[in-house]
Amino acid sequence: MTNQPAKPKDQNQNSFDSSSLVTIYVMGKAYQVPKNLTIMKAMEYAGYQFIRGCGCRGGFCGACGTVYRTKDSYKIKVGLACQTVIENDMYLTQIPFFPANKATYDVAKLEPTTQTLVRHYPEIMRCISCNSCTKICPQEIDVMGYVNAAIRGDCERVADLSFDCIMCGLCASRCPAEIVQYNVALLARRIVGAKIRPRAPHLRDRLRELETGECLPAVEELTRLGEQELSERYYDKKVRDIEPE
Ligand code: SF4
Ligand code: SF4
Ligand code: FES
Repeated sequence: MTNQPAKPKDQNQNSFDSSSLVTIYVMGKAYQVPKNLTIMKAMEYAGYQFIRGCGCRGGFCGACGTVYRTKDSYKIKVGLACQTVIENDMYLTQIPFFPANKATYDVAKLEPTTQTLVRHYPEIMRCISCNSCTKICPQEIDVMGYVNAAIRGDCERVADLSFDCIMCGLCASRCPAEIVQYNVALLARRIVGAKIRPRAPHLRDRLRELETGECLPAVEELTRLGEQELSERYYDKKVRDIEPE
C-alpha cells in the first residue's frame, strides 16, 4: 500500500455534503471521507493506492488486516479493510505483512506423530493461554484452542479448528509468546491432507484426467462458451461436478 504523491481527492469536486463525511486517521493523518465506506474504499478515496495489503476484496485472502482504535476508547480493534465499515474518528493502520517464523519441511517426508508440530514449532510450548489470539481473529476461530491441540500433537483437531484461517497474521501480532499460530495450523493441515485423511476419489480421477489429457475436449468446449453460458454451467448443480459431501 502506498500513498501516492497525488493529493487526496478534493471534496469540493464531489457531491457529498459535509454531513455525509466522517473523519478517519490513516497512520496519524486526518482525512474527510464519505461515511458507510469500507476502510479499503475510504483509504482509496483519501488517495491511497493499494500495492500490498489488498487482494480479493471479498474477505477471503487475508491481505488487508487492519488495526484501529476509535476516539474515547482504550480498545484496540482489528478488521479486514475490505469488510469493515469506517467509523467517525477511527485511527487506523494496516498490517499487510507480519514478520513470521515459518519452518521449512518436505511434506512427503513428514511423519504424522504427536511430536511433529512441536518439533517444527517448539515455541508453541510457550503459550500462556491468554486467549488474545482468539479475541483478535476476524474469522472468529478458536485460535488458542488449535494452539493447545497443536501442543497435544492433535493435527486433525488443529486442521479442523483452523479450516477457515485466511492467514491474515493478526493473531501473531498479539501473541505475547511470539507464536505464529497460522503457520503451525498450516503445517497441521498439510500433514492431515497428505498423511491422515483418505485421498478423495474424485480428486484422484480428476488428476488422472489431467495427466492423460482426457480432460482436453471438455476444456476446449468451455473455452468456446460465452460469459452467460459459463455462469449458468457454474451455478447449475445438475451440470456441474461438485465435491461430494
Ligand atoms: S487464525 Fe490468525 S491468521 Fe488465521 S484468520 Fe485468525 S487471526 Fe488471521
Ligand atoms: S496469544 Fe499466544 S500465548 Fe496467548 S493464547 Fe494465543 S498462542 Fe497462546
Ligand atoms: S482484500 Fe482479501 S480479505 Fe480483504
